[in-house]
Amino acid sequence: MNVFDKLILRNGSSIPNRIAKAAMEENMADADHAPSKALVRLYRAWADGGAGLLLTGNVMVDSRAMTGPGGVVLEDATHLDRFRRWAQAGRSRGAQFWLQINHPGRQMPASLGQPAWAPSAVPMDLGTLSRHFNPPQAMSGEAIADVIRRFARTAQLGEARWPARPTLSSSRATSARWRRCR
Ligand SMILES: Cc1cc2nc3c(=O)[nH]c(=O)nc-3n(C[C@H](O)[C@H](O)[C@H](O)COP(=O)(O)O)c2cc1C
Repeated sequence: MNVFDKLILRNGSSIPNRIAKAAMEENMADADHAPSKALVRLYRAWADGGAGLLLTGNVMVDSRAMTGPGGVVLEDATHLDRFRRWAQAGRSRGAQFWLQINHPGRQMPASLGQPAWAPSAVPMDLGTLSRHFNPPQAMSGEAIADVIRRFARTAQLGEARWPARPTLSSSRATSARWRRCR
């Protein structure tokens, strides 16, 4: 095996080589939170680089729960044409283009001014970085069910019109990743 060998996943997906671009939230959406021309250009450049897998940065399932000011949101069909262009750019050289769909839970930067909601009212514990996050309010069962429905809806939107394969990012997995990269 070498890094340029194809990888076939158990679900049948074929990744043309072993080089993957990790999920990195670019904060380059337009003001309406759809993929901007610059974001599409960026993914075309990454595709031209020859990676076998391009994982997008966070694509939020709820515009009321963001992780950055220029975050991408996919919660209804309004901007599917722009998502399609994004996917086409990512896949232009044969790479797999996977959406990382996300709800941040308590990991919402306080500077965005949005109330933070999480399954329990337990604040972030990131040492001195904790001050960047407001303590969350505990979600009701219905609010949790709404987030679950939103993940399903965003995944459906992602699959329906431009078959890209969504990957889920739970707030716990994401915060573990963030902790590792600091
Ligand atoms: C600028 C930046 C943005 C990131 N955005 C995301 C993201 O949207 N979703 C995610 O799961 N991880 C995100 N990460 C974490 C990366 O995907 C990756 O896990 C991290 O950089 C560690 O990579 P490494 O294990 O190859 O060193 C981000 C990292 C950076 C530096």
